[in-house]
Formats: sequence, structure tokens, C-alpha cells
Amino acid sequence: MPRFCSILILFLLLTSCDLNIFKETDTDVEVVSEKNNETLTLGSDPEKGKIVYYANCISCHNYNPKKPGSIGPQIYRSSKELLSKKINFGIYPKNYKPKRSTKIMPLQPHLDKEIANLHAFLNAP
Ligand code: HEC
Repeated sequence: MPRFCSILILFLLLTSCDLNIFKETDTDVEVVSEKNNETLTLGSDPEKGKIVYYANCISCHNYNPKKPGSIGPQIYRSSKELLSKKINFGIYPKNYKPKRSTKIMPLQPHLDKEIANLHAFLNAP
């Protein structure tokens, strides 16, 4: 009888351990998916940037940003600061040497929230 009791206790212990393991994995999965959501909303997405670029920039810049376009210069590797200043205000960062001295490019301040995505696309390898 005591042996049966200890086996029963052992069994109960084991199952409760198992349950704990399941709970832990559940929370792990939740944390990971929360993190993924965070990256999706806060991070930058080169694929989204590509769509924004094709929709708003290739009338003047080349669809391949490494090459000069019909009107605008090549803009591959543009920094976030350059993009933000040029798109929002038509100006350049301090001490930056513009590729052209013209001031043809129209302001597109409505694209301000897309700059992180544009930057990710324009700096992708
Ligand atoms: C109407 C034509 C036109 C459109 C549309 C346009 N650009 Fe431009 N862009 C230019 C021209 C022309 C220049 C050269 C400077 C000037 O004349 O403003 C330029 C310059 C730039 C520069 C500075 C390059 C350097 O290093 O000197 C960046 C960065 C840039 N464009 C990004 C963009 C992005 C991103 C978009 C789309 C959101 C865009 N442009 C849309 C015509 C355009």
C-alpha cells in the first residue's frame, strides 16, 4: 500500500510538472508573437518601401534607385535624414553635397510616415 501511494504521488508530481511545462511554452509563444507585432508596426519594411517608391518616385527617379532616372539622380543609399529633409522641406542635411543644384523635386510631406520604409528599400543590398 505505501508503495502504491508513493507511485501515485510520483505520478501526480509528474503530471503537474508536465502541465507547468505546457503553460511555460504557451507564454513563450505569446511573447514571441507580441514581439513580431511590434516589429511589424514599429520597424521598417523594405517591401512596403518599394511599393511607396514605385508609386511616388519613379516618374522621375529610375525604378532601380542605383541608376539615374529620367529627371532625378540615383538615390541608392540615401540616409533617413536626407530623405526626410528632401521629401518634407526640399532641403539637404547640413554639410551634404547635393547631387544636383536644381530644385525641381516637389515636396511630398504626406509620405513622412513612410520614410523608414523608403529608407529600408533604398538601403537594401
Ligand atoms: C517630379 C520629379 C520627382 C519626383 C516625383 C521625386 N523626385 Fe526626388 N529628385 C528629383 C530631382 C529633379 C532631384 C534633384 C534635386 C532637385 O532638383 O530637387 C531629386 C533629388 C532627390 C534626392 C536627393 C539626391 C541627392 O543625394 O542629392 C532624394 C533623396 C530624392 N530625390 C528622393 C526622392 C524620393 C524618395 C521620391 C519619392 C517619394 C522622389 N524623390 C520623388 C525629382 C523627383
